[in-house]
Amino acid sequence: MAVQVSPFAAGCGAQISGVDIREPLEAADRDAIRKAWLDNLVLRFRGVPMTDAQHMAFTRQFGELEFNPAKLIEMKYGVSTQTDGRKAEIPPEISVISNIIEDGKAIGGLGDGEAFWHTDSSFVDVPPAASLLRSLECPPPSAGGATSFLNCYAAYDDLPADTKKRIDGMTMIHAATHSSGGKAHRGFETVEDVSKVPGARQPMVRTHPETGKKSLFLGRRINAYVLGLPVVESEELLDELWDHMVQAKYTWTQEWQVGDLVWWDNRCAMHRRDAFDPSMRRLMHRTQLKGTRPV
Ligand code: SIN
Repeated sequence: MAVQVSPFAAGCGAQISGVDIREPLEAADRDAIRKAWLDNLVLRFRGVPMTDAQHMAFTRQFGELEFNPAKLIEMKYGVSTQTDGRKAEIPPEISVISNIIEDGKAIGGLGDGEAFWHTDSSFVDVPPAASLLRSLECPPPSAGGATSFLNCYAAYDDLPADTKKRIDGMTMIHAATHSSGGKAHRGFETVEDVSKVPGARQPMVRTHPETGKKSLFLGRRINAYVLGLPVVESEELLDELWDHMVQAKYTWTQEWQVGDLVWWDNRCAMHRRDAFDPSMRRLMHRTQLKGTRPV
């Protein structure tokens, strides 16, 4: 049976079926999945519980694995943000996202709170091209924990022409100070002047290296700064762009089931997560594909 691609009505995201992604892929299936990913930004594979080894093997068929964000932060900024209870046997290419506490220690990041809109790890110079998140345990949708994705191509396309002209060619800092849950990383608690914030310099409008399309590339809101502008003007411009970008019409929301794998293009899609009932367990593992320097 060939790969089937069923786009969601939201204009972002598609369900993929007709292939067992736990097995090595035929070249034609791999190419069809890759094309579907570039066309739809986010792919969902449903009913495929897998091991970390299968998850990594699937990811590797599309490129080189990237390290998890804690390792990337440690390599660029020399600070440790790794959760204390992370199990030693989990490889550094896997991120654990969880609210589960074992022996008094969090086994993963982000807890049970909201995660605000963000691009994964754009606080390093070369952010991952893709993130592939799989659900091992999750609350029912009525208890929260849904993840939404945002089409940053569409958000860019709809900007007024004068705004496009203004921001094309501008550079901003994607701050490394906070997690997507809004928690300050150790050592980055105090920022007195956002124009000096530690982070990566990124173009505000990014051209996708494979599709050639332009998208808004804002990283995350907290401590962001547009180079060359007085801080007040930078804040005003960022507020205006964020208000425009996070409109529901650009988004699709994933309600999780155990055995889902959701794969997004981190170069042109942002994501956020709803808070969920803290009495429930949620455990997700994520791989990432290495990216290229944003231009
Ligand atoms: C993330 O921000 O990558 C985590 C999303 C989630 O927990 O659903």
